[in-house]
Amino acid sequence: MTAAEGELDPPRRVLCRGTDIAEAAGKGFVLGEGRRKREVFVVRKDGRIFGYVNSCPHAGTPLDWMPDRFFTNDGRFLICATHGALFEVEDGMCLRGPCRGLALEPVAVAEEGEEIWLLEPDEGFAPTPAGAAGATSGC
Ligand code: FES
Repeated sequence: MTAAEGELDPPRRVLCRGTDIAEAAGKGFVLGEGRRKREVFVVRKDGRIFGYVNSCPHAGTPLDWMPDRFFTNDGRFLICATHGALFEVEDGMCLRGPCRGLALEPVAVAEEGEEIWLLEPDEGFAPTPAGAAGATSGC
């Protein structure tokens, strides 16, 4: 293997523009399709962004109670719409609720320039705003 072959960039795709996700707000996306379909979401807190699979560790349901609504009213925590579990935004740990001690599955994302990037394979499919699939809206 040459040095150039060992330095391949990791897979990455643009999910949306940074301005599409305001402070204490989020956005859901559907990646892939069929058996490889994954619903994920990206949220912003204190100017930083975080990504998670949109599946509660308690019962596997999506967290958002309305499209793209992942935060508690005070904007401090993520909340599951099904049974009200609260999660830390920064690491996805459940602080209160039936899945206390478990965590959301992280999704590698980054904000670079004016765009928010998915930094992991998405099986070759372009990200689809989750609203297009009837779940949550996208950008
Ligand atoms: S499914 Fe999320 S708290 Fe029960």
